[in-house]
Amino acid sequence: MKKYLSILSDMEQKINEGQYGFGEKLPSVRNAAKRYGCGVGTIIRVYAELEKRHAIYSIPQSGYYVVEKPGGPGAEGKESKLIDFAPASPDINVFPYLDFQHCLNKAIDTYKYQLFTYGDSNGLDSLRHTLASHLAGDQVFAKAERIVITSGIQQALEILAKMPFPNGKRAILVEQPSYHIFLRFLEAEDIPVCGIARSAAGIDLSELEEKFKTGGIKFFYTMPRYHNPLGTSYSADVRKAIARLAAKYDVYIVEDDYMADLGEDRGFDPIFAYSSTSHVVYLKSFSKIIFPGLRLGAAVLPESLLETFRSYKRYADTSLLSQAALEVYIKNGMFERHKRKICSQYTARIRALKEAVQRYNDAGLIQIPDIGSGIYMQFKLPQTANLESLVKRLAARHVTVMSGKGFYLTDYLDREKFLRISISRAQPEQIEEGVKAIVEELRRE
Ligand SMILES: Cc1ncc(COP(=O)(O)O)c(C=O)c1O
Repeated sequence: MKKYLSILSDMEQKINEGQYGFGEKLPSVRNAAKRYGCGVGTIIRVYAELEKRHAIYSIPQSGYYVVEKPGGPGAEGKESKLIDFAPASPDINVFPYLDFQHCLNKAIDTYKYQLFTYGDSNGLDSLRHTLASHLAGDQVFAKAERIVITSGIQQALEILAKMPFPNGKRAILVEQPSYHIFLRFLEAEDIPVCGIARSAAGIDLSELEEKFKTGGIKFFYTMPRYHNPLGTSYSADVRKAIARLAAKYDVYIVEDDYMADLGEDRGFDPIFAYSSTSHVVYLKSFSKIIFPGLRLGAAVLPESLLETFRSYKRYADTSLLSQAALEVYIKNGMFERHKRKICSQYTARIRALKEAVQRYNDAGLIQIPDIGSGIYMQFKLPQTANLESLVKRLAARHVTVMSGKGFYLTDYLDREKFLRISISRAQPEQIEEGVKAIVEELRRE
């Protein structure tokens, strides 16, 4: 027993200290037994215990491997040289995977075989009810009947782009810049689309009105909160004005509130809350707080769009297992706790980013918006900057950034030159070094 315990604690220490890195294969049972001078039975028991503690996992006929653990020393290791300002997904090192594993098990225990069927394409009924109260916290008041669970916002956007709308109009109006993946989808599908400029300073409401009046606009796709890629939000006055214009010109608003949960601003009411004429589709994602692989989002639809949306979604079900696990995750309070943790981390990182820009940007080559949270920030550059070469030179210095170029429609001309900086995976201590590298490379131009 003593031998068993001392081997167990030695191995655990080696894993925690990173001597066995993430994904690394542990010595075979026979080799480990030789190394520790014990029988193979003892090592088998040690490995079984480590597996139970989620420190390692086994692959049949291959061996035992170290589990990727949040924030452990192995998380640095090979990747520590990279300062990653590019990603759209949350920091996997803060993801509470053991909590979520518990929710998955609980979901299976609760729903049993029901989870392994096709299910209702509107979504799991109990989750839709849970979401109705969850959304009310964000001033989105809707009955469960108007909520459709989707495989992320992405699926909802694709359906909305393809389906006809009761206003009989065809074009989609997008902010420029805007969410690049949706832009590429619209272009690939040849869906009529036009752009309107949005900058860190906001949007020109008279231009928006003109487009609503004469552009044959089916819907206006907008991200009022923590815009991707700018990082900025619309003021309450602008959000109200958009709701008013939508009603006046019978144009729908597709409100992508993909970062609602990262909002530190308690009084932020979405456009949905200001619309009294049911012209707003509200989209919710769980990718930024939990993880994108869950593939879950929700659309809150006006009565007039519900039937068509449902009929377009009918053949594209959303994983019931994910839905049931999310329901448990929200109901038992884990979501709220995790959300608070993520929010405070991201807020600290945005602060570090702003401070680093203040420190190194003495020549004023970078302009940043005044934001306090979210994950993205626009680094606006001089119009003479060569984005392509800048991104390459930074990559050679192990700093990855996204060029602003892809966030525009291919034929949109009135572009700003910028980088989109994401802090979701940049460790606070790396932020300063990354900003310094960006400024140095800009100076070289
Ligand atoms: C603005 C915006 N909307 C939607 C999405 C995708 O959301 P989901 O993962 O829920 O499909 C993203 C992902 O990065 C995004 O940036």
